[in-house]
Amino acid sequence: MKPTLLTPETMSVKGLDLLKKIQDDFIGLDTKYKLADGTISPRIYLDSTASTLMMGAAFRASKKFLNHYSNTHSLLHFSARISTKTYEWIHNKILDFVEADKNEYTSFFMGSGVTAGMNRVAKTLKRLRPERDIVLVSMMEHHSNDLPHRKHGGKVIHVPLEKNHQMAGKINTQILEKYLEKFSDRINYVSITGLSNVTGIINSINKIAKIVHKYNVYLIVDAAQMAAHVPIKMSGFNDKSKEIDVLLFSGHKTYAPGSPGVIIARKSFLSAIEPEDVGGGMVDKVYPDNYFVTKKFPDREEAGTPNILGAITLGASVHILDTIGMENILEEDKNLIQYTMNELNKYKEIHIYGDTDIKNCPRAGTISFNINGMDHGLVAAILNDYFNIAVRNECFCAHPYVQEMLSATHKKELDDCEFKDNNLSWKMEPWMGMVRISFGIYNNKRDVDILISSIDQIIKNKKKYQEQYCIDNNGDYKHINFKFSSDDFFSLTETIDNEIKIL
Ligand SMILES: Cc1ncc(COP(=O)(O)O)c(C=O)c1O
Repeated sequence: MKPTLLTPETMSVKGLDLLKKIQDDFIGLDTKYKLADGTISPRIYLDSTASTLMMGAAFRASKKFLNHYSNTHSLLHFSARISTKTYEWIHNKILDFVEADKNEYTSFFMGSGVTAGMNRVAKTLKRLRPERDIVLVSMMEHHSNDLPHRKHGGKVIHVPLEKNHQMAGKINTQILEKYLEKFSDRINYVSITGLSNVTGIINSINKIAKIVHKYNVYLIVDAAQMAAHVPIKMSGFNDKSKEIDVLLFSGHKTYAPGSPGVIIARKSFLSAIEPEDVGGGMVDKVYPDNYFVTKKFPDREEAGTPNILGAITLGASVHILDTIGMENILEEDKNLIQYTMNELNKYKEIHIYGDTDIKNCPRAGTISFNINGMDHGLVAAILNDYFNIAVRNECFCAHPYVQEMLSATHKKELDDCEFKDNNLSWKMEPWMGMVRISFGIYNNKRDVDILISSIDQIIKNKKKYQEQYCIDNNGDYKHINFKFSSDDFFSLTETIDNEIKIL
């Protein structure tokens, strides 16, 4: 049968249709809990920046695959052939998803997210160009795109961000270029986030690549947040300097919990040195005193039996995101962010962190804020206990960035704080942090309306709520009467016992 010709318009409508259908097909959208006031209500999940919910279709696809589950290294029997072919398909799908030229790039999996991959990339690039001792990162990085470079990559320098009315904005290419000029041939690579896990601010990664490559420096993109929110194009430009050298993302933030971390890298980087990890599956021949690493990608980068089942869910979810079209997803996301910011901005008591001028500084997926005079932990606890809204609070593994932005709302506390003590626990300072709301493709305006009316209640009844809480030894806000027991909702032993009973 001849494929029908799709115009960009019909593709987009088809994608939006699929998006509408998929939005209700996530596991955990109707999870209910009993709240502090005794009512039972469905959870509103606003913590997708930490981990997204499981896409139903991807889960069902992986369940079907289990009928054929077998080790991808077995090769010959029927199931092994199905596993191997599917596993290969996923690697190619990932390259298509981020528009990475298959001749130039390979994709491979490791760990459970970006963290393991970033450690690997830092070690690899250091070995590739040991004479270059500096790595540039920005001030908005997650610790997973900072500490691996400090430990393995070299001396890390944090490049300041653009400022708009004193609000931290995106990475500014002019500021970055000053650092590139200053340290020039000492810099091995620049590693930046595509989208901040604190503010949702989006960086122009291809524009940054162009500047970075002028200095013979490599560009790594941490796409832990970007992959599920923004279209990515690693290659295929007329101007090759816009290409991204290495990009990483996490399957558990891409609607496939339990899946591996993903690395997409230039094959030329990897084939120049022996892979960091060695073991089964990545060698052509092993002798007692010698071994020969295979030239084949991605095999040489994936020592040992991979997380096959996780990769299946990841491949399925990425395929669905691709079919919907990431442009469609970004458009919906931006609308929801704009709507939420407009609603939050109606309250003079609320401070949204980072540049809020969306035209100059586009955002997706995430907003962090505080309510004047209330600790982030208290607000997050009330949202959970009284309104069943799951949010994240504290510093989101981005201490330098959060601390810098807190100076807009907590200058006095920061000045008074004894940072001289290196062991100072952030948790012991209950004001040090923010409340973060974050969206997945299953969230909608209704969720935002419920959030806003809950925040409205909190602001209007601050004292009443405050009186219900104390701070425990860990520095966390705890309700004085309401006790939540996770065993009332899920116990693994009980679940297993019931499963065994019905055998
Ligand atoms: C921007 C960013 N980078 C890196 C990471 C680390 O990812 P993972 O926890 O999947 O290793 C996260 C996790 O929240 C993140 O948001």
